[in-house]
Amino acid sequence: MSNIKNIAVFTSGGDSPGMNAAIRAVVRTGLFYNLNVFGIGRGYDGMIHGDIFPMNAKSVANIIQRGGTILKTARSEEFRTVEGRKLAYENLNAHSIDAVVAIGGDGTFTGAAKFIEEHNIPFIGLPGTIDNDLAGTDFTIGYDTAINTVIEAVDKIRDTAESHDRVFVVEVMGRDSGLIALRSGISVGAECVLIPEIKVDYEAMMDRLDRTRKNKASRVIIVAEGDEEGGGFVVAERIKARFPHYDLRVSILGHIQRGGSPTCMDRVLASRLGVAAVEALLEGRRGEMAGLIHGQVSFIPFSKAIKHIGSVNDNLLRIVDILSS
Ligand code: F6P
Repeated sequence: MSNIKNIAVFTSGGDSPGMNAAIRAVVRTGLFYNLNVFGIGRGYDGMIHGDIFPMNAKSVANIIQRGGTILKTARSEEFRTVEGRKLAYENLNAHSIDAVVAIGGDGTFTGAAKFIEEHNIPFIGLPGTIDNDLAGTDFTIGYDTAINTVIEAVDKIRDTAESHDRVFVVEVMGRDSGLIALRSGISVGAECVLIPEIKVDYEAMMDRLDRTRKNKASRVIIVAEGDEEGGGFVVAERIKARFPHYDLRVSILGHIQRGGSPTCMDRVLASRLGVAAVEALLEGRRGEMAGLIHGQVSFIPFSKAIKHIGSVNDNLLRIVDILSS
């Protein structure tokens, strides 16, 4: 039997499609187990400033299909301080919160790890970020929607690129991870994909651009924003320097990748992990992130989740090479 009676849920860091589905799953599972469920607005900032309110089944009605987060989110500077975290703890106590579900990315779990080191409160995390840059889960909530948004955008770019015989450099998000670039790159038939994890071989890239001209008048290079070369415009300049005759354009997809209705994959992932998070708290788990590995729910300490490996499945990059040649 667990002593947990009151739980709270919040979202933090960059929003991602499927966060609402995760909030819904946490709230409804909490109610299923006869817990009182609270929402915290604006992430850690809301925790510090007492933005804590009760939630019920109706509070999360009709949100599974909505992008963004109904709880709002923030990247809190104040929570980085000892004083900020103390205030947050006092506010949780004032509402008799026994346990917390945090939905976010590495910043969220770095904060959570520090918080539970200083204050003894059970936390379980859910991986909510489009970047897919956490260890301990094959996919993060929002990643699938984001890569599908990229696909939709680049398919459209391809139409116009092909009509004008143009070369397009498309920059995608991902912070220091190339996983958005890699999977979307394969899916749009990109001629080249540049990611921060692998040093760019410019010679090979120029050669491929030139060679693949015989197959397609248009060519698309997907560049991850965190690429060491400095993103889309820098890559475009280098291509232009080598092939001045190319009709070249740059497109930065930007925050469009963070919005939109979550895909089936993200809704199901969020729902499974939301249920798992509450059940984990009731079973006595603490300080861990719930993830899905090979289709099975699994848990990993926050400290390990945030140490994403900085390596990618290079078989995926090999696939880009083989299929674009
Ligand atoms: O972590 C999600 C993400 O969208 C990254 O891909 C990107 O680098 C960053 O957030 C952008 O953050 P902001 O919305 O604060 O500019």
